[in-house]
Amino acid sequence: MCGIVGYLGDKQAFDILIKGLHRLEYRGYDSAGVALVDSQGNLNVYKTKGKVSSLEDYCKDKDTTGTVGIAHTRWATHGEPNDKNAHPHYSQSKNLAIIHNGIIENYLSLKTFLQKEGYQFQSDTDTEVLVQLIDYIKTQHNLSLYDAVHQALSQVIGAYAIGVLEKNNPNVLVAARKSSPLIIGIGEGEYFLGSDASPIIEYTNKVVYINDEEVVKIERGANMEIRNLKNVVLQPKVHELSLNLDDIEKGGFEHFMLKEIFEQPKSLSLCMNGRLHRDLGEIRLSGILDYGDKFERASRIIITACGTSWHAGLIGKYLFETFCRIPVEVEVASEFRYRNPVIQRGDVLIAISQSGETADTLAAMELAKKQGAFVYGICNVVGSSVARLTDSGTYTHAGPEIGVASTKAFTTQVAVLTMTALALAKRMNKITDEDYKRIIDEFATIGDKIQTILNNRDYIKEISKIFTYAKNFIYLGRGFNYPVAMEGALKLKEISYIHAEGYPAAEMKHGPIALIDEEMPIVVVAPHYAMYSKILSNVQEVKARKGKVIAVVTEGDVDIKKLADYTIEVPQTEECLSPLLTVIPLQLLSYYIAVAKGRDVDQPRNLAKSVTVE
Ligand code: M6R
Repeated sequence: MCGIVGYLGDKQAFDILIKGLHRLEYRGYDSAGVALVDSQGNLNVYKTKGKVSSLEDYCKDKDTTGTVGIAHTRWATHGEPNDKNAHPHYSQSKNLAIIHNGIIENYLSLKTFLQKEGYQFQSDTDTEVLVQLIDYIKTQHNLSLYDAVHQALSQVIGAYAIGVLEKNNPNVLVAARKSSPLIIGIGEGEYFLGSDASPIIEYTNKVVYINDEEVVKIERGANMEIRNLKNVVLQPKVHELSLNLDDIEKGGFEHFMLKEIFEQPKSLSLCMNGRLHRDLGEIRLSGILDYGDKFERASRIIITACGTSWHAGLIGKYLFETFCRIPVEVEVASEFRYRNPVIQRGDVLIAISQSGETADTLAAMELAKKQGAFVYGICNVVGSSVARLTDSGTYTHAGPEIGVASTKAFTTQVAVLTMTALALAKRMNKITDEDYKRIIDEFATIGDKIQTILNNRDYIKEISKIFTYAKNFIYLGRGFNYPVAMEGALKLKEISYIHAEGYPAAEMKHGPIALIDEEMPIVVVAPHYAMYSKILSNVQEVKARKGKVIAVVTEGDVDIKKLADYTIEVPQTEECLSPLLTVIPLQLLSYYIAVAKGRDVDQPRNLAKSVTVE
């Protein structure tokens, strides 16, 4: 939800800002803009509808000089995506410019107040209200920018990560955060501002994570200052990033999504590294070693997340209930947080999030924490808000996921849930040594098995071309593979814009079967386990109505192959590990369909990678 970037130093800022915007474009891409103070003391704002490349074109004949600047790539909340609503926004005096990620909830009452004070507005955004408020407070009380931002934010309700630039003081940049991520990079005589580390990592690995309700002043030739809204002065904690530049570039792949699909053997190996010990036949997860008693004593586990992470959570339910015999509830975070859920002291809440910044997931965690639950996080982004809010947790170590459609984050989340459930079952004596060791042994081979599916990409690509005509798809699965069907459907709709629904296969006859005709593609996730004969019957029901079946089956399958129009084989594995394999062809299928339809795979319309607004 919007990417913000800033620079203050001795280099020309424009190229650094544009490069940073490209790296943050996954967060929103309906308009973009930049503000710079040039050497004559002009505060120039350039902004335009469209992607960062449109901004670059727009700026070609403009004066883009200046060693201090802020820039923004937008995912619209207030006001449609057009030039006037793009950020940065000037204050009326044009002395200030602001970039903002988040939502100012009380912007209407603030706007009415400011209008009475004679302020006029050029845009429909909540952000412009904030910069006018800062300007008003600054002029009324003759304050520094730092103090004015501080005072203005104490009147604001909502979420923000902001950067503010002042025409008359090009040596200072002020930034602040609440519920939207913000990182400051510290270089040699220069500072960087970013929604995440990607625009910073090329220049420095020293970063400070800004916390909620903190306001920061960065100044040329001076140390940064941080003050929270309660006026407490804080010492910046400098962290070293372990990210490297290759992780955030395409590395020869046509899209980030394809790169990330192909990275899965590696990301799973990183995820299991030091945790899954095949030689010892053991799983060592610090979360379970240190807090296993919390899980053991829990009368139930609640899993909450959004989107793909929620699908991983649904697989988590099968895992914990199968192996640990602990009841599990899985709920999308936006519902959980608002329905006044019954949470008891001693409940364990597992929050799953790739970005670690999803607003609804964070709110669900806060609610559960307040009511006495033990909050465990499964998260990819190190140092993110989810990671900082948990009592304990496990990083997925998938590496940066830049394609908006989540792929390697999903498989690593499922891997962490699988390791957690197995380690806990072992601790609780709910699994035999034989089963435990056999599954671990098999788990260690899963990356190689994924690679064999990836090697079949050309066949999946060929099938994809056949189905570009489709307006609808149905995905069916059972047991561990029912959430996989839902995930396959989500992948398809978000990047190809084809409507798709995932169903438990047996549920089809309770409604969706009415949709089936000779045009309708049905993707059936049907590996060979206990429910095979049941899902075979479901395939027969589809074929009897002339639906087109694309089946994901276990290598050597005979019966479904006879019925299906197309089959994609995955290697044999333990049933509990099968989602890690069956999801791969579905990722590739949706990718190739979207590419064949000419879609913008990495930046699909209306979406953003990190949903920091509710
Ligand atoms: O960063 P999170 O895992 O919390 O994000 C949750 C969802 O927004 C995310 O999974 C979304 O559904 C993806 N676009 C799916 O591909």
